[in-house]
Amino acid sequence: MRLLSLSCESFRNLDQVTVTPSSRTTIAVGENGQGKTNLLEALYYLATLKPLRANTLKELVQFGKGHARVEGRWLLNGAERTIAVEVSHGTRSATVDGKRAASVESYFGGVSVVAFTPDDLSIVKGGPDGRRAFLDRSVFNRFPAYLQESREYAKALKSRNRLLKEDAPHSHLTVWNETLSRVGARLLVRRRALLAEVVPRAQAAFGSIGRIEAKASFVYEPSHLELDFATASEADLQAALSKALDVRLVRDLERGHTSVGPHVDDLDVSLGEHAARQYASQGQSRALVIAWKVAEIENLNATNGFLPMLLLDDVSSELDPERNAFLMKYLAESGAQTLLTTTDAELVRRAAGPETTWLSVRKGAVTPSST
Ligand SMILES: Nc1ncnc2c1ncn2[C@@H]1O[C@H](COP(=O)(O)OP(=O)(O)O)[C@@H](O)[C@H]1O
Ligand SMILES: [Mg+2]
Repeated sequence: MRLLSLSCESFRNLDQVTVTPSSRTTIAVGENGQGKTNLLEALYYLATLKPLRANTLKELVQFGKGHARVEGRWLLNGAERTIAVEVSHGTRSATVDGKRAASVESYFGGVSVVAFTPDDLSIVKGGPDGRRAFLDRSVFNRFPAYLQESREYAKALKSRNRLLKEDAPHSHLTVWNETLSRVGARLLVRRRALLAEVVPRAQAAFGSIGRIEAKASFVYEPSHLELDFATASEADLQAALSKALDVRLVRDLERGHTSVGPHVDDLDVSLGEHAARQYASQGQSRALVIAWKVAEIENLNATNGFLPMLLLDDVSSELDPERNAFLMKYLAESGAQTLLTTTDAELVRRAAGPETTWLSVRKGAVTPSST
């Protein structure tokens, strides 16, 4: 898999940008506020159809413009394909070689990216929402069908929550049990499968990052389910979810939202005996996140037979020289196609090689540069 070229039109502050990336490392350098993260976000959105940081699709469209478009030419399994996504009036449409994508899977067809951003620290230190979103990005990367499945779940959940708020009769609410428990069980099985693959790799990677004695653990915490999560079959999970939805119906009506299911679960991240959220230092938290992502990259390489493209936003080694050095060395050795952004070219020289493409980002314009 290789990105051959990327174009953005009216995407945030990127008016008309075309970039020809290196097959290895591309480094975008610019002052703050110039559009570096926007460039990375455009590529991330194209490759995942999930905004990296936007809450609404509208944010992606340049102020005063009607639509935004991102297009990428990729080399996939020896064939060139153009995938494009356009956002207008709050909705998106995706095309493959100019034709509307028949399904999400056909759209992605082997494209995968893993992003490292400064916001990642909140995965360890923040609330469960961030950890679920983080886990879901990994699950989706591994199982693209997950995107559609999560949408189906979210839609059913929204309907049930609306009825809960309207104090609808029980019979109207229980109609949603079938979808929520069936699709919910599917999401749980996907998450469990991803964790089974990635966690051992993340533990090994964590051990090699830096001088931290404690063992890292990542344990899925399903809420309010009466069963052994590790061994339960999909049918058992569905039955347990359905039962919990019934049992909690009165409480859910009082609170006006659905209190059981994959949308409320958490991923417990610990160092040794201690919850990382409370006890991990900044450096340990960064190491946990890096270990996870390195594990994800290696797992994708093992399952897909090729490395995902790596996106690193705002690399600045003052923050954490040791872990940064690990990451830069890993990138250089992995051979993956990489896009990284920084305010200071000196900080990322270690990741650069003879085939590096340097870009300069200024006021939403991206141009080739010589350093
Ligand atoms: N929808 C939008 N339309 C136009 N400009 C935008 C839009 N969204 C963000 N911006 C602008 O993009 C700039 C920030 O770009 P960003 O890529 O985050 O900078 P950095 O180079 O620091 O990563 C800000 O000036 C912001 O106002
Ligand atoms: Mg930025």
